[in-house]
Amino acid sequence: MYSIYKDSLELAFYFSENLLKLSHESEKFNIALSGGNTPKFIFQKIAADYKNKFDWNRIHLFWGDERCVPPDDDESNFGMTKKYLLNQITIPEHNVHRIKGEKDPVTEAERYTEEIKSNAKFKNGLPRFDLVMLGLGEDGHTASIFPNQMSLINSEKICEVAVHPSSGQKRVTLTGRVINNASVITFLVTGDSKKEILKKVLVDKNKTLPAEFIQPVSGELNFYVDEAAAEYL
Ligand code: 6PG
Repeated sequence: MYSIYKDSLELAFYFSENLLKLSHESEKFNIALSGGNTPKFIFQKIAADYKNKFDWNRIHLFWGDERCVPPDDDESNFGMTKKYLLNQITIPEHNVHRIKGEKDPVTEAERYTEEIKSNAKFKNGLPRFDLVMLGLGEDGHTASIFPNQMSLINSEKICEVAVHPSSGQKRVTLTGRVINNASVITFLVTGDSKKEILKKVLVDKNKTLPAEFIQPVSGELNFYVDEAAAEYL
């Protein structure tokens, strides 16, 4: 269920090793990347030590969510991924399926839905990602499913427009049913600031937070956490 690592460097090593193994299990490996800050050290590790180990021709990158900003905006999850990973690897352009944050959110959510449908595998009538990477917000959100928008967990849609509860920033996000349809779902949670919320999700389990409703229908759920975030586990 969860693995505790000494620090983010050790976590990045083991995540990268396991990701490499997992990527060999599918001829076409579809991964939905998480955003925010946590993935930065993961992407740096992959770019530094694994870029020639992955067969990028077989790997398709999607995003679990994106902020509705241009790709060169500091807030862009694609922009962050480009800086820390894409600029350092050779991956076919058509394997990179970014959410176009600069577009109208509703139109983009619809377009991205079609892009997923035409590229992903399906199971239970829904797209089935080989891996969905997720972060955990201090309020218990994941992807861009926030505590005041719980309807996105069971939405019939593949993608929806979300609104950040404090900044009002619009987001395009995968919905909970699509996330839960993945073969593997991996949360990456590090740092002292996440120790309380991680306890709520993994120990208290009051089933009130979006991250608590991430339960794979027929897949594997795991948490990669560092000691600082795991203090209360
Ligand atoms: C986003 C993410 C979001 C993130 C959490 C954790 O677009 O912000 O997808 O769900 O994973 O907010 O963010 P940090 O890694 O920055 O703590």
